Amino acid sequence: MKLFIDSADPKDIAEAAATGLIDGVTTNPSLAAKTGLDYVESLEQICELVAGPVSAEVLATDVEGMIRQGERFTRIAKNIAVKVPLTWDGLKACRALADKGHMVNVTLCFQPVQAMMAAKAGATFISPFIGRLDDAGQDGMELIREIRRIYDNYDFSTQILAASIRHVTHIRDAALAAADVATLPPSVFKTLISHSLTDKGLAAFLEDAKKANVRVRDT
Ligand code: E4P
Repeated sequence: MKLFIDSADPKDIAEAAATGLIDGVTTNPSLAAKTGLDYVESLEQICELVAGPVSAEVLATDVEGMIRQGERFTRIAKNIAVKVPLTWDGLKACRALADKGHMVNVTLCFQPVQAMMAAKAGATFISPFIGRLDDAGQDGMELIREIRRIYDNYDFSTQILAASIRHVTHIRDAALAAADVATLPPSVFKTLISHSLTDKGLAAFLEDAKKANVRVRDT
């Protein structure tokens, strides 16, 4: 499963990218607003930090405006994926940008037929929002499972990008449901390998070695 970082802050991205385990980045207008930085400038910095897809979301809501902003984003770097909302204009823009060879991430997906339509429009990624569905009292992960079945039934190549991830259990369940990608906030990324028994086990190993004066000679 590919792991993307869900942040528009180059500092967050640099920290996560230093692990060597990050495959891409997703941003959105709310995340961009939080940084207080110029959106295009932060995207320029992020694209230098990560070789994989970096999603940049259009602010326009009409098809021409989305295509214009999308093409502006694609001039930043080769690894930009233009992010468009799941509206009719968004799907038209998706088709136009995909036909020109650009990666497109269709965002704000909350039901499986939306995902089928995005795939038909040539989306590279579909972003189902798991956490927001859970927040609304629904089972967000069921959406991932349904989209997986539909895409497999028809051999759609659009990648399922599990978004709006809140905790490590979402990552486990999205991986079990065969999502292609998960995008996670930096705070959740940091918890991915945490387990109290790992910490306890390591402390015991080191303590035992210290007591018995076990060493690793350099030569
Ligand atoms: C995905 O691309 C979105 O940026 C993101 O996952 C939204 O998550 P939220 O529901 O935590 O805002």
